Amino acid sequence: MSSKKNKPLSVVMVGTGNLAVHLSHALRKAKLELTQIIGRNKSKTKKIASQLGFTSHSASLSKIALQADIYFICINDDEIKKVSSQMKLPGKLVVHCSGTVPLHTLSSISENHAVLYPLYSFSSSDDPVNFKKIPIFIEASNKKSKSQILFISKKLSPAAISLNSLQREKLHLAAVLSANFSNYLFHVAWDYLHKEKVNHAKNLLPLLEKTVSKLHHHSPLTAQTGPARRGDKKTIQKHLLLLKNYPEQKSVYRLLTRLIQLHFQA
Ligand SMILES: NC(=O)c1ccc[n+]([C@@H]2O[C@H](COP(=O)([O-])OP(=O)(O)OC[C@H]3O[C@@H](n4cnc5c(N)ncnc54)[C@H](OP(=O)(O)O)[C@@H]3O)[C@@H](O)[C@H]2O)c1
Repeated sequence: MSSKKNKPLSVVMVGTGNLAVHLSHALRKAKLELTQIIGRNKSKTKKIASQLGFTSHSASLSKIALQADIYFICINDDEIKKVSSQMKLPGKLVVHCSGTVPLHTLSSISENHAVLYPLYSFSSSDDPVNFKKIPIFIEASNKKSKSQILFISKKLSPAAISLNSLQREKLHLAAVLSANFSNYLFHVAWDYLHKEKVNHAKNLLPLLEKTVSKLHHHSPLTAQTGPARRGDKKTIQKHLLLLKNYPEQKSVYRLLTRLIQLHFQA
């Protein structure tokens, strides 16, 4: 797909959540034309439409603009199948952005369908995200859709990588294990310090940043440090004692200590 001379590719966005907003912003920056945004909440959709410069907006899928080039479905994973069954856009490129929903879920909307999965965490409170630093995983139903989605992805990021639905699902699982779960551990640590009135959680940031940056050069196992890795049993006992009134923190500490020890037992 190349935009016809002087005519930018036009986009319809279904969804008004975190990714819909960031992706729309990036698509506009990449000089695509934002034709229409569709959301369930009328006032929210109207507000986002005017903030991002969509030409039109609607609260109903039945009012979907039929003349656009690309249709993004940026809604909750669990709803993509249901919403897809309400759409018919033969010949159009229809795209979802989920890590886990298989490509074929879109097959009843159009023979030309694709996935564009940005491996990143988007929140509505963030400033506009620079997609150029984000790996984007793509999959498409046929040759035509493949070249179309590749063309669009390349406008967003130089890192556009082909991946099938099963591989993408596994990658998404790895993202949950590494990013979502470690974020929950940050909460567990922050909450403990807050309740103990040791207000220095922010001072953990240089350590956390170093922990992540080491992964550029080392495997996580090679980089592992701490009392469980070293087998410092007395320190572990002290920590468990400190956590005697913190069942959530204590169970996380016990489980992870046991798993790390299993790896490094002689
Ligand atoms: N956020 C990320 O970091 C991220 C990263 C990569 C991929 N993704 C993918 O992007 C997609 C959207 O995720 P998100 O984080 O943007 O979710 P989100 O912020 O929770 O937004 C979900 C959007 O879907 C709409 N929606 C839900 N059910 C709907 C239905 N039945 N009909 C119409 N609209 C419906 C919601 O409308 P209401 O506002 O009316 O509830 C909301 O606009 C998902 O497939 C997700 O896997 C997200």
